[in-house]
Amino acid sequence: MTATDDTDHQPVNPRPQLRLTRRQVLQGGLGASLLGMLGACSTGQDAAGQPLLGFTSVPVQTDPRFDQVRVAPGYQARPFFSWGDPVLPNAAPWRADASNSWQEQEGQAGQNHDGMHFFPFPETLSAAGLGSSSGASSNSNPGRGLLVVNHEYVNPTLHPNGFSWVEGKRPADEVRKEQAAHGLSIIEIHQDAAGQWQTVPGSRFNRRLTANTPMAMAGPAAGHPWLRTVADPSGRRVLGTLNNCSMGVTPWGTYLMCEENWHQYFYNGDAADHQGRPSHWRNGVPTRGGRTYQGWETADPRFDATPRPGQPHAGYVNEPHRFGWVVEVDPFDPTSTPIKRTALGRYSRECATVAVGADGTMAVYSGDDTRGEYIYKFVPREAYAPQQTEHNGSRLDRSLLDTGTLYVACLNEDGSGQWRALVWGQNGLTPEHGFADQAQVLINARLAADQLGATPMDRPEWVAIHPHSRDVYVSLTNNKDRGNKQPLHPANPRANNLHGQILKLQEQDANPAATGFRWELFLLAGDAPGDSAQALDNHVGNIRGDVFSSPDGLAFDQAGRLWIQTDYDDEAPQNANMGCNQLLCADPVSREVRRFLVGPRGCEITGITFAPDQRTLWINIQHPGINYPASDGKTRPRSTTVVITKDDGGVIGS
Ligand code: FEO
Ligand code: CA
Ligand code: CA
Ligand code: CA
Repeated sequence: MTATDDTDHQPVNPRPQLRLTRRQVLQGGLGASLLGMLGACSTGQDAAGQPLLGFTSVPVQTDPRFDQVRVAPGYQARPFFSWGDPVLPNAAPWRADASNSWQEQEGQAGQNHDGMHFFPFPETLSAAGLGSSSGASSNSNPGRGLLVVNHEYVNPTLHPNGFSWVEGKRPADEVRKEQAAHGLSIIEIHQDAAGQWQTVPGSRFNRRLTANTPMAMAGPAAGHPWLRTVADPSGRRVLGTLNNCSMGVTPWGTYLMCEENWHQYFYNGDAADHQGRPSHWRNGVPTRGGRTYQGWETADPRFDATPRPGQPHAGYVNEPHRFGWVVEVDPFDPTSTPIKRTALGRYSRECATVAVGADGTMAVYSGDDTRGEYIYKFVPREAYAPQQTEHNGSRLDRSLLDTGTLYVACLNEDGSGQWRALVWGQNGLTPEHGFADQAQVLINARLAADQLGATPMDRPEWVAIHPHSRDVYVSLTNNKDRGNKQPLHPANPRANNLHGQILKLQEQDANPAATGFRWELFLLAGDAPGDSAQALDNHVGNIRGDVFSSPDGLAFDQAGRLWIQTDYDDEAPQNANMGCNQLLCADPVSREVRRFLVGPRGCEITGITFAPDQRTLWINIQHPGINYPASDGKTRPRSTTVVITKDDGGVIGS
């Protein structure tokens, strides 16, 4: 399976279709293009008054055998951290024939690198003129920190001969290896005397989290009967995390893993039970007649969520309720237990992007990446205070993510919008509509959002916050099969939306806790007019600059450049003009877009993080379809973190 096989994003939202007039569609598109033209009068500038986009764009890469990463002139891209690289001390080296055991995989980097973040040690922060000095810093101090990388899922390349089935069952050792290749890698990295970034093998910070790592549950749903299983009657201790896509970072220095397509790992073979259990079907858990893609349920009973009436808590029927959350990790404490924060709700969570207002008011923004699902934010009850970062004790103990309000976005067609609160007892979130308490509201967040009239969107993926204005940008990657259940809307204006769009929200008074906002389309992705591969208006975007499809990863750097990463099928006819997947950079003022990097054939570009001085950029090449970085054609493709620097040592993008 590749990210371009989007069977994992099948719509499960039963809402009826609303009709959008042709005029409304045109208004949505025209509004964005008019704004683009108006914005073209001026360009964004960095702190030195230079234009934000200082590099020359790279051309699209249409070679069907392209196996490199090509970056803008004057930049270098170097493979840095690949599937199978040793993480834990004494980990086995990667074997190119994929014959490493599951035990060896537990000590090595997982597959399908996705969201990631570089956490600098204090001296690296102060060398960049940021943060508080530890007293040990100088401008010549090399960078040092922890690189934290999600491993979203696994490919058949994990095994010598792909996923095997024996008499309808998966071999247990293969399943264990697949579980071990999920989760998270934490690795210490540093700059050597020549300024080159290197990993620090055997660092005491190095850690792997997998689909079997013990984790805690906290917040309003922790301990609830719907979280209890035969293996965990407390409803508070869960094994592992699944399908960690994008991520977030808190101001108190923790990492937020996000559980996206967790539903595809579970199975409920009792069709009648499934039909009466929206916590399964509304999230896409398959039932009789379907099966999970990897068949873990045939080898590990935890993934068979068919109710077993003779067992305490009916076996594992509640196991799917223990996924779909934000998992908070303290990367600086290798002994800490990761915590699933239930106050933020449960769905196919792409990201958990944190905004902090002037007074410390916070919001955590998330997309629910399935066709016709919603955009959410969580506002902690308490504001963030800088002493939160002073660490005497666990960062996880200082978290503000257990108490607060979860909201879902309702976009009006006139460009206004409201955040509606998912609070039990209010707005129909009551027992007569199937919500017995706040835990049920959170576990069934999609159902609660349905009740509130949330706006179905075209697969919300990443959210990025402008570092100065706090404007909120959301990638809506595409919606190839709107069917008759997901209404057209000026924010989702194309019926057969092959290329996606980027939405911009402005909170009232730039306050992350605001309940009112304005929205507009920042751009519609797709071909330039006249260039459409299929000559359909639907496929034409309004990009000012370099074309791309299916925006997914989205992040701002400190100067306010918007970096856009793509995830599309680079062999599909409608993407013939786009070539291989890309990293682009947009000026939010002029709306100009320039292509900064193209990846090898078959890959998705995802995950993005900068060193504090903005002179190093890391991105991930996920599931390349061709051997990269191995170019000898003899080994297998590996998802890889790439480190990017500018030849003159300058700021990336300048
Ligand atoms: Fe894992 Fe929605 O991308
Ligand atoms: Ca992916
Ligand atoms: Ca994604
Ligand atoms: Ca995607």
